[in-house]
Amino acid sequence: MLTLDYANCLADRVGSHGLDTALFDPASQPTQTARALTASLEKTRGTGWERWRLLPHDPVKADHLHQVRRAVDACRGRFDNMVVLGIGGSALGNIALQSALSPVTYNLLPSSSRPGPRTFVIDNVDPEQFGHILDWCASAGGGLQRTLFNVISKSGETAETAAQFMIIRDVLRKAMGSGYAGNIVAVTDPSRGTMRQICDREGFTTLPVPDGVGGRFSVLSPVGLFSAAMCGIDIDALLGGAAEMDARCRRDSLLENPAALLAFLLVELGTTKGKTNHVLMPYASSLYLLADWYRQLWAESLGKRVDKTGETVFAGFTPVKALGTTDQHSQVQLYREGPNDKVIGFLEVHKFRHEVSIPTGLGVEALSYLEGRSMTDLLNAEKRATEYALVESQRPNFTIKFPVIDAAHVGQFIWLWQVATSYAGLMLNIDAYDQPAVELGKQATFGLMGRKGYEEHKRTVDSTLTTTRWRT
Ligand code: PA5
Repeated sequence: MLTLDYANCLADRVGSHGLDTALFDPASQPTQTARALTASLEKTRGTGWERWRLLPHDPVKADHLHQVRRAVDACRGRFDNMVVLGIGGSALGNIALQSALSPVTYNLLPSSSRPGPRTFVIDNVDPEQFGHILDWCASAGGGLQRTLFNVISKSGETAETAAQFMIIRDVLRKAMGSGYAGNIVAVTDPSRGTMRQICDREGFTTLPVPDGVGGRFSVLSPVGLFSAAMCGIDIDALLGGAAEMDARCRRDSLLENPAALLAFLLVELGTTKGKTNHVLMPYASSLYLLADWYRQLWAESLGKRVDKTGETVFAGFTPVKALGTTDQHSQVQLYREGPNDKVIGFLEVHKFRHEVSIPTGLGVEALSYLEGRSMTDLLNAEKRATEYALVESQRPNFTIKFPVIDAAHVGQFIWLWQVATSYAGLMLNIDAYDQPAVELGKQATFGLMGRKGYEEHKRTVDSTLTTTRWRT
């Protein structure tokens, strides 16, 4: 099971920059509040936008596993490459799962030692990136006939994914004629939306983005499960880990409920101690992109102008990703001596899937301390040393420890942060499930790209963004 060590967030360790231990007393106000919030989350569980909490439990789990496995079985052996198309909540979880649970050399392995097709997740409309991957699949990668496209869009209206889809549909049709639909598996709304209409018209295999599951809470639905299962990731274990964490996150005691505790630490440090930048720093390269997934969840869910009463609050915290040890040589100077406005969350791994030892025999006195030690020893010593150095500078920090990196623990991690985000939303009294601020940019893009009905947006953009240049 993951553990959460928060001692370095307390005033005993980091002085006035930390939280008073008395806050955690069973009779204290925060503890009472946590109890009330747990009761409130129990009431909304499985309703409205809280339906993502049903994902790791039957009957929803059994239904999704069945549908995903049927789609995977239908694809097995037919494809050398899989290209996942999506953005935001329809891509970040997929990327994080691949990076955490498939070896970094996955795409380079021969097909005989790879559990699924080579996998690329494209979450942008950068023509170079897109063009290179598509060209490679069409030629060196075995041809478009042997390339599966997993298009993920709940709405089908997202400009980036729609553009990607239109391109691959066109190239597939040119390469394969009418049989092209067999190379597309779409994950979308089961009954509504633009992508749904296209899928019904063209006969693609589809999997559901279930009702009441928003993009950034959808990685443990078919959105993330299909591409993971295609690559041999144990999706049963992933959901099993989430279910185990879910049981803990329903406890009504602050100290026994890891999600309530995590949310409490970060919201309290953010709102009462000015620690509004929340860094997540895995000491494991494979977990780095989980920090990217966390960044969207924490930013888009909690960054809100108004609270539920309509009062302007400008709520939210700035999530930052960093990587240990790499960023010790890039960011830690700032974290120790710059503004004391951060909480640093470390991810530590007890036992890696692969160990490398540093050999003996170099015979250089200055480096002899490294001889015979494992890379894990060095990595975790550096993590502990950084933790200590931050405490010395009175910088609050916490550690989430993975006993090992596997599907079950990654499932626990995802669930922990999703529930913590719900708690944080309640504590801040904001709606954690909408993203109204993203709309204006989308509408302006429609205007600039000439979509009918959005002409006024183009005029407003052009009159607002007049250019001032520096003189050459
Ligand atoms: O978290 C969210 O809701 C967003 O990031 C969406 O996932 C993203 O905008 C993509 O939306 P869609 O799946 O409708 O294409």
